[in-house]
Amino acid sequence: MSTQVLLDLKNVSKVFGSNHVLKQIDLQIERGKFITFLGPSGCGKTTLLRSIAGFYTIDEGEIKIDGQLVNDLPPYKRGTPMVFQEYALFPHMTVFDNVAYGLDIQKRPEAEVQERVKTAMAKVKLTGLEERYPHEMSGGQQQRVAMARALVMNSPIILLDEPLSNLDAKLREEVRVELRSIQQELGLTVIYVTHDQLEALSMSDSIVVFNKGAIDQYGTPHEIYYKPRTPYVADFIGTTNFVDATVREVTGGKAIVEYGASSRTASVTTDEAIVPGEKVLLSIRPESMRINAPEAGSFVVSGFVKSSMFLGEKERYFILDNNMKEWIVDAYDIGLTRFQGNVTIHASDDKIHLMKINQ
Ligand SMILES: Nc1ncnc2c1ncn2[C@@H]1O[C@H](COP(=O)(O)OP(=O)(O)O)[C@@H](O)[C@H]1O
Ligand SMILES: [Mg+2]
Repeated sequence: MSTQVLLDLKNVSKVFGSNHVLKQIDLQIERGKFITFLGPSGCGKTTLLRSIAGFYTIDEGEIKIDGQLVNDLPPYKRGTPMVFQEYALFPHMTVFDNVAYGLDIQKRPEAEVQERVKTAMAKVKLTGLEERYPHEMSGGQQQRVAMARALVMNSPIILLDEPLSNLDAKLREEVRVELRSIQQELGLTVIYVTHDQLEALSMSDSIVVFNKGAIDQYGTPHEIYYKPRTPYVADFIGTTNFVDATVREVTGGKAIVEYGASSRTASVTTDEAIVPGEKVLLSIRPESMRINAPEAGSFVVSGFVKSSMFLGEKERYFILDNNMKEWIVDAYDIGLTRFQGNVTIHASDDKIHLMKINQ
């Protein structure tokens, strides 16, 4: 095992009654990374976080932190404090008391508490604000207090479960930036839970995409967006157009695929292990398609414009093909040009993402 791996999960399963909530989770998280657990509500994110923290006992598998098996350790011996929604600050306590809270529970000596709180406050650049109350601080500062509260415990990993979900959109954005910069400044290892795709894409070093208690993909935001491993991931992150296709030829990194009722063929760039005759699914993002631009690539579909929507930086077109299948195509920077009536839409080899269907 690499020494960089801080959290190592092997075959982790958790069952509630007849509900198999976590299914054989294997996951390794490196030191100093910002990792996001992403998935819709009910897919097991909180259950895994609570299992890592020690609030739940897992039914199968191993959880190792820094090489040590922690399956049977209680939460306070694992060093993985959790921060819940709304920063979990106590409104009636001063910042100092909020930060000291975990140490007070452990009944640490007064001098040690003073020293450790001081150090944690300095790390998050809040020295001097110890006597304030949470409501006297900005959203960003409150997030720093919440982080100081975790830092004071000298924990190797900080677990954040949808900490921003109750904030309004503008504040959420401000606090996101704040949180990411504290994590980077201090080289912290953070696991962050969210169901918000944009939040995950914009903050993370890597994203773990959950699908009903299992991991569909673990990769960087760019990999998850541009090379989704499954249709579920492609659909959950952003918007895409799916196309059923059949492989006709495969030659070194390229495939010829047949698609649509009129059996057109297109060339696709891929490193998937596929064979002629195999059914595959193509995924093409709205921003990767061009309207009435044959030079844009070999993939082409004819249709007509059903409607369009002006979104400022782009115009989003809804186009129906001859089978009444709807395509979403975004046109950027086209000024006053408007596409209407019959159109063709096009995509190039490297903008078409090919996925195997049965894996
Ligand atoms: N303490 C519990 N007892 C029984 N079922 C639970 C418990 N906690 C979560 N679950 C169930 O486990 C599944 C996953 O829940 P959860 O981990 O909270 O998902 P998420 O955080 O992704 O929304 C859900 O079906 C939920 O009802
Ligand atoms: Mg949850």
